[in-house]
Amino acid sequence: MTAQARSTRRFAFAAGHRYWVADWSPAENETRFGRLTVPHGHNYTLDVSVRGPIDERTGMVIDLGELKRIVTETVVDRFDHADLNADPLFRDRVPTTENIALAIWDLLAPKLGPDRLAGVRVWEDATLFVDYDGR
Ligand code: NI
Repeated sequence: MTAQARSTRRFAFAAGHRYWVADWSPAENETRFGRLTVPHGHNYTLDVSVRGPIDERTGMVIDLGELKRIVTETVVDRFDHADLNADPLFRDRVPTTENIALAIWDLLAPKLGPDRLAGVRVWEDATLFVDYDGR
């Protein structure tokens, strides 16, 4: 039986956002989100995990160069130095860390395959991360 493993590669991007629901009044937004309504930036860290059998020839779950290329082209190039609120992905949802993780999953799952993509972990800073695994 082929051994299975889960491998994680780390990426980084810097992006700006603010918490704001267009359907709410400014006062309501202020009440719910406080200072988070003010545009600001974060240096995000993204951990992408893939799982599967360890290829007997390469000794790897996935070609790490391929993983780096896919995540860079699909996620990092899109979000790095971007205003997340201006991205269509966040037109109808607040760019919280939770929703960023969800959006990244939805971008990567078709490229990597939902069976091979094991999870994404988005760190907003050293004190907060969110895990999403497609469920
Ligand atoms: Ni923030």
